[in-house]
Amino acid sequence: MPLTIGVPKETADGEKRVATVPEVVEKLKKLGFAVLVEAGAGEAATVSDDAYRAAGAEVVDGAAALWSASDIIFKVRGPSLEEVALLREGSTLVSFIWPAQNPELLQQLADRKVTVLAIDALPRMLSRAQKMDALTSQAGVAGYRAVVEAANAFDRFFNGQITAAGKVQPAKVFIAGAGVAGLAAIGTAASLGAIVRANDTRAEVADQVVSLGGEFVKVDYEEEGSGGGGYAKVMSEGFQQAQRAMYAKQAREVDIIITTALIPGKPAPKLITAEMVQSMKAGSVIVDMAAEQGGNCELTEPGRVVVKHGVTIIGYTDLVSRLAKQSSTLYATNLFRLSEELCKTKDGLIDVNMDDEAIRGLTVIKEGEITWPPPAPKVSAAPAKPAAAKAAPTAAKSHGHGGVSEPSSIKKAAVVFGVAALFFGLIGAGAPPTFLAHFTVFVLACFIGYMVVWNVKPALHTPLMSVTNAISSIIAIGALVQIAPPVDGLNLDRPDGWIRVLAILAMILATVNMFGGFAVTQRMLAMFRK
Ligand code: NAI
Repeated sequence: MPLTIGVPKETADGEKRVATVPEVVEKLKKLGFAVLVEAGAGEAATVSDDAYRAAGAEVVDGAAALWSASDIIFKVRGPSLEEVALLREGSTLVSFIWPAQNPELLQQLADRKVTVLAIDALPRMLSRAQKMDALTSQAGVAGYRAVVEAANAFDRFFNGQITAAGKVQPAKVFIAGAGVAGLAAIGTAASLGAIVRANDTRAEVADQVVSLGGEFVKVDYEEEGSGGGGYAKVMSEGFQQAQRAMYAKQAREVDIIITTALIPGKPAPKLITAEMVQSMKAGSVIVDMAAEQGGNCELTEPGRVVVKHGVTIIGYTDLVSRLAKQSSTLYATNLFRLSEELCKTKDGLIDVNMDDEAIRGLTVIKEGEITWPPPAPKVSAAPAKPAAAKAAPTAAKSHGHGGVSEPSSIKKAAVVFGVAALFFGLIGAGAPPTFLAHFTVFVLACFIGYMVVWNVKPALHTPLMSVTNAISSIIAIGALVQIAPPVDGLNLDRPDGWIRVLAILAMILATVNMFGGFAVTQRMLAMFRK
């Protein structure tokens, strides 16, 4: 019997999102599920009950009716105590849980003998899991909204303009922390025309900052800030001092600061001091996205907008809810992707497969048993090492330094060369001399082609394929020219007339392939160039 997914109205204060939207209801139904939505669940995100009905969901009145009729609950925020009590034994809950911060909630849920998938516990470094990554989708919305809030509070243009009324300088925006939210903010501010600078303790994000139109500002101190898994670590005192000096300089220069710096499980690092705020130009704006974790700015008041020393400091903690329709749609899609993983058979039944690393990561309770924290992930963010280790023996072999395998590979090569020489000798004895010359060129071309292709990095295989495509076409045209006799008009009455027509057609196609191949190569290679 297919399972029923229930989507209740969110009860947390100020929460405007909803866990599914009509477009996604249709897709969930295609997976075989029945969908129940609580009346008014989408109201704050401007989704009407009728829209849900039109998409094939059943709308029910009241939380009690919804929770009792659902096998799976899709929610945004973790459940309240009352909601935990409504959960049916044996059912499954999918929502944000933050198990590390909420051990009591975890215990209460376990007591209800349910299965809980905490969407925030998804292993983010698995590329297969990215489509389910609600933290990323929601932080992206928040980063965008942070810039919109800044633009709203700022009393100048973001972009530079030359008008009859005078020249306007572009606004300067500094983004502290280039994680998901920070990168979204950089892209948005740059697209509005501002000069964008950003800093992060993880040097690896510098390229991403630049590719989104920002400038990466380095701290004058050598220390790597990556704590693994795409997250930061707490930096040394020396680094923090050098960072403070750099931030103080930026504060004096820029008009807008957006702070997103966060180290998981730690209070937000205090990056913007009261003196830095004081040193900013009057009318400047700070958006402190880390307000909920204590704030990156000393003067932030969580949930509020305050003006201190002439600087507007925005500490909203509900940036995602301020774009409720957009964030709900993205969240709903993340949950749909998760449903696809849980229901591969498309029959409306789910399999919480604990051997699947992504599913294992986010399952915090399985049938009443707490399974959080998961075992350490097997994948690493840096696959470079094993690849290098694997490459080493090959390289050693080809340079003739490979310890044990050396004599056997020399023997093998000698045999191959011996057989090839014999083969050539036999052909040379029987074939005309011109054939032997062509054949030698052919064999050498194969050898060089093989050596060249084998040393190309896998990332460049696609451009290589397109260029070889183009080269093959040149060869094809050459062959056609050789085969067809000189054209003396298209006489279709002669038997070879049709051969010529076909040859011309083939040449046109080969020409398209040739120029297309080069064009594709150019485009692909441009993607690798900085
Ligand atoms: P993330 O973990 O992807 O990014 C945080 C970044 O800060 C990382 O790149 C990290 O390397 C960097 N960082 C850590 N310490 C630093 C330091 N001392 N100096 C410079 N950079 C440092 O997190 P994400 O998802 O981008 O979220 C960013 C912040 O936004 C978090 O505090 C999150 O809670 C908050 N947020 C706020 C919302 C709101 O409504 N206010 C909504 C969504 C997210």
